[in-house]
Amino acid sequence: MNAQATTLVTVTLNPAIDLSCTVADFTPGQVNRVSASQSDAGGKGVNIARLLRQFALPVTATGFLGQANPHLFQKLFSESGINDAFVRVPGETRTGIKILDPLSQETTDINFPGFSPTADHLQELHNVLERLAATAATVIIAGSVPGAMEPATIAQLVQTVKAQGVPVYVDTSGPALQQAIGAGPTLIKPNQEELSAFLGRPLTTQREIVAEARRLIEQGITTIVVSLGAAGALFVQRDQAYMAVPPRVKVISTVGAGDAMVGSLAAGFRQGLSLHDCARLATAVSAAVVTQAGPGLASLAAAKAIEDQVEIHRLTF
Ligand SMILES: Nc1ncnc2c1ncn2[C@@H]1O[C@H](COP(=O)(O)OP(=O)(O)OP(=O)(O)O)[C@@H](O)[C@H]1O
Ligand SMILES: [Mg+2]
Repeated sequence: MNAQATTLVTVTLNPAIDLSCTVADFTPGQVNRVSASQSDAGGKGVNIARLLRQFALPVTATGFLGQANPHLFQKLFSESGINDAFVRVPGETRTGIKILDPLSQETTDINFPGFSPTADHLQELHNVLERLAATAATVIIAGSVPGAMEPATIAQLVQTVKAQGVPVYVDTSGPALQQAIGAGPTLIKPNQEELSAFLGRPLTTQREIVAEARRLIEQGITTIVVSLGAAGALFVQRDQAYMAVPPRVKVISTVGAGDAMVGSLAAGFRQGLSLHDCARLATAVSAAVVTQAGPGLASLAAAKAIEDQVEIHRLTF
């Protein structure tokens, strides 16, 4: 990392266009009529990039993007001032259809498979990332790996970033998380279920979660945040741990809660905040995100307004 290391870089290997359709009384096997619909450029790293722009930080987004339908993404990048360093691959970026039924209050997801980047595309991404890391404050790799790619892909990207001496965060799940942990990222943010799946046993108490997080810290990770949904999150480093509890808020959609937490942590640490203050900021921003439809944050001011209502407990184990 050098003196110009200011930009935050997000990596999304498998972005998605989120198509939300409102269908009253949705019934499979019948003709269903859409009363309202909206398409948004999505994917975890894209959501994080968008959030970081709300902190007015310089952001570059990379990963893979389908050549056939990049327009929605390009529009977002130019409107929000995100530098576009995506590697274009043949085919379409996948679409995720969300059918929202206001009567049953149920959501039905229909997910398309999406593109298959080749070994050459992956090499190109490593080259791009190596170049971006030279002036990056932090690199954040978030989301899933396209189905046709090796789960070790994220672990390899972590190595490329670490070789440049730049902090790298990872937010993914399943085998990709398993492999990425082995590469020793700087920060991970599994939820309780993801951490339990990684360890192969259920984790229930705070004490157990902190103990397991510390074992991973021994293996080279600096910060582990274990998110617990509406209950808040545990923020663990070698010599300190906090439990942060959000205020009770009216939930509209929990989409993007995890992304908000990861993005705010990057913004907070980039601004030199302590673990304690990052926990407060990230918990307030995530709570503000769940009070709205979609993954975005209405305004940073709305999150700052509830920061005082976040309870932070220092844990002594
Ligand atoms: N109902 C809620 N009320 C307040 N805050 C919430 C609520 N749900 C989530 N959050 C906040 O968002 C954080 C992340 O949520 P969660 O643990 O669900 O992440 P996740 O499972 O990784 O989500 P994602 O699906 O976005 O990946 C929580 O630690 C909490 O601070
Ligand atoms: Mg998550």
